[in-house]
Amino acid sequence: MKTTLSVIKADIGSLAGHHVVHPDTIAAANKILAEAKRNNVISDYYITYVGDDLQLIMTHNRGELDTKVHETAWNAFKEAAKVAKDLGLYAAGQDLLSDSFSGNLRGMGPGIAEMEFEERPAEPVVIFMADKTEPGAYNLPLYKIFADPFNTAGLVIDPTMHEGYKFEVLDVYEGESIILNTPEETYDLLALIGTPSRYIVRRVYRKADNLQASVVSVERLNLIAGKYVGKDDPVMVVRAQHGLPALGEILEAFTVPYLVPGWMRGSHYGPLMPVSQKDARATRFDGPPRLVGLGFNIKNGKLVGPTDLFDDPAFDEVRRTAVIIADYIRKHGPFMPHRLEPQEMEYTTLPLVIEKLKNRFKKETDMYKTKPSVYSHESSHE
Ligand code: F6R
Ligand code: MG
Ligand code: MG
Repeated sequence: MKTTLSVIKADIGSLAGHHVVHPDTIAAANKILAEAKRNNVISDYYITYVGDDLQLIMTHNRGELDTKVHETAWNAFKEAAKVAKDLGLYAAGQDLLSDSFSGNLRGMGPGIAEMEFEERPAEPVVIFMADKTEPGAYNLPLYKIFADPFNTAGLVIDPTMHEGYKFEVLDVYEGESIILNTPEETYDLLALIGTPSRYIVRRVYRKADNLQASVVSVERLNLIAGKYVGKDDPVMVVRAQHGLPALGEILEAFTVPYLVPGWMRGSHYGPLMPVSQKDARATRFDGPPRLVGLGFNIKNGKLVGPTDLFDDPAFDEVRRTAVIIADYIRKHGPFMPHRLEPQEMEYTTLPLVIEKLKNRFKKETDMYKTKPSVYSHESSHE
């Protein structure tokens, strides 16, 4: 029997700023998903949140991009957004970019990570959900989990994993994808995915038998819309154990609070801090960027669990390091590299400042030839 796991998320408004999802909006989404379960549209579901993002975790047997499942998610977000509006929550309905649903949710605002697979006798999965960052934030841990033997012992000592993994990378500037094999194309892979704003790891497969091991929500809406239209706080599914990385090898990749873009106003780098569900709230400088990991087993399409994986003193030092990094990088104030490069900033006054000052710039030399559009006086960013 094939099962599809669909993790679909949206920011439909939150309490006291872009801080945390309100329980009444979760209750509204729950009504819709409970009904969909009664009507056999979905087999099972779990609803949660990370920061201001409402997370719908659903199982069913309808495959990826299924109209009924996506419509269910859309209705859940719409109902939750209605409650958010009634309560006067902040940025109510933020990620619902269209008034009506048509076919599936791609390009409509919500982030989507879906995977259809043949259930193994035991099917452990980990669902990662991050707030105040973007899809490329999973590039580094995915590399560590599936290609770095210093992280994942199984790459060396488990015969099924020894051949390595295939990474499907999406170029979100060109809309093209490429499959790269590890270990043999490791350096090519790193050359691309080290630019996570452009090259995003979307799927990972086990090379030995093409079994899909991971999927990431990859849409970057501002690149689709040409302007800022909401944060693409990303979700990721990773299957674990039995010829795939062990649960602990997956979690090990998050023991360094590496820097990701998306903090304060979507315009700053900050350390990604793995937290328990109870700490999944954006506070300091609207962050720091946070990551929750929930572990489930899937049996006959039912979700067994979850367990809150970062609710553990083994991650206390990682969090402490994240706070030290946050203190350090905050001291840069409005300077790069804390502030993002201009092209990547969620909103920027730079064109306005340049416009205001343009008559005061005095021509000195023709020596400097390169003029990226964001610095040009003609640029018209919103
Ligand atoms: C939202 C985010 C926040 C907001 C900031 C300003 O995802 O990252 O840091 O950008 O709170 O919000 P507005 O512009 O809505 O007042
Ligand atoms: Mg928000
Ligand atoms: Mg968010």
